[in-house]
Amino acid sequence: MRPIKIGMIGYGGIGRVHAMGYRSLPFHYALPAGTIQIAGVATSRPETARAAAAELGCDFWTGDYRELLAREEIEVVDVCVPNDLHAEIVEAAAAAGKHVYCEKPLAVSVAEGKRMVTAAAQAGIKTQMTFNFRFFPAILRARELMDAGFVGRIFSFRGRYYRSSYISAAKPLSWRLRKDVSGGGALFDLGSHILDVLYYLLGDFASVQASLDTLIRERPVAPGAAERAPVDVDDIALIHARTANGVLGLVEISRMGTGLVNDLSFEIFGESGAIRFNAMNPSWLEVYDVRDADQPTGGMRGFRRIETVHRYAGQKAPDWSMAPDFVRTHAECQYQFLRAVAEDRPARPSLADGLHIQAVMEAAARSSDEGRWVSIGELL
Ligand SMILES: NC(=O)c1ccc[n+]([C@@H]2O[C@H](COP(=O)([O-])OP(=O)(O)OC[C@H]3O[C@@H](n4cnc5c(N)ncnc54)[C@H](O)[C@@H]3O)[C@@H](O)[C@H]2O)c1
Repeated sequence: MRPIKIGMIGYGGIGRVHAMGYRSLPFHYALPAGTIQIAGVATSRPETARAAAAELGCDFWTGDYRELLAREEIEVVDVCVPNDLHAEIVEAAAAAGKHVYCEKPLAVSVAEGKRMVTAAAQAGIKTQMTFNFRFFPAILRARELMDAGFVGRIFSFRGRYYRSSYISAAKPLSWRLRKDVSGGGALFDLGSHILDVLYYLLGDFASVQASLDTLIRERPVAPGAAERAPVDVDDIALIHARTANGVLGLVEISRMGTGLVNDLSFEIFGESGAIRFNAMNPSWLEVYDVRDADQPTGGMRGFRRIETVHRYAGQKAPDWSMAPDFVRTHAECQYQFLRAVAEDRPARPSLADGLHIQAVMEAAARSSDEGRWVSIGELL
């Protein structure tokens, strides 16, 4: 792969994970050390940008992302800022001719997302969303099995992403709890991930009927503050979804799943087989094959575990036999994008894929408000 210089915009919680991903990639794929270079960083303030640059080991830092976009040598920008800034920054990056790697969700609204997709297409840049969960080896393998028709006619599906990160009423307001900045709560934060995994495996969604709820309606305005203010986003979203192929399924999303840490899981049930996965146990894809022999004492029927572990095609690192982790899924998502840039071909999941997920989320919120099934086509 030819050398590529990256500019990071935003270096908070996930920015650091992205940096770990870029740093680790040369080791996973035996690339020369300078192939992937973080050449600059922009955050909201010069002080935080300077500290980020010290951590990243790069010479250029700024509190104004436009200065980063003006740097000739930067070819790719990585957008790791709160959701309401994605549109403005991606449009500016497209105008500057930079390829864009953008965190999820695409934006705070479908209207913004459409503008971003149009700007990218007009500029002819390459784009990719950070839908990193689809880069677990087990999910890549699940897609191969779906493409090969392993489950046959699909009967139904279930997807779930539950965390317990907001169960404490003492957790203060943050940008993730403000609709104007985040666009939505659990639905946008966690839902974008599980909806993308299901979209990757099952294709387009056609319509949804959803109920959203906010379980803690007021929170402290700052850590430890007595003053409280209303929360205007969902904590939980329960969605009935129908795919464009007519398959009905359930998607459950919550940040209030007491006792659950990072529980992204799915099940797909079909005429000739079934597939299931849970990210808390990421070494295995579980499959059931109806064609396995049956006999009075049980035969060979039953779910079995495929050892997908840490296996990525073409990798050189010797740790393939251990469990994959969150950072590795990010690294793989980045690798696929950077290779597409280097080889001048389109990348996926693209901003257009992100727009489909955006429309599903917005349709779910509209369905909850209006108490009816909402077609994804109404929003696109
Ligand atoms: N894919 C994943 O696994 C995953 C996980 C967490 C967050 N995310 C997404 O990543 C994005 C960032 O989330 P986070 O948790 O890192 O947020 P954060 O609040 O921890 O960090 C935000 C960063 O954006 C910077 N920023 C804010 N305004 C800016 C501006 N005008 N110009 C430049 N930089 C600015 C801040 O300085 C900070 O560095 C969100 O879109 C979120 O949904 C994705």
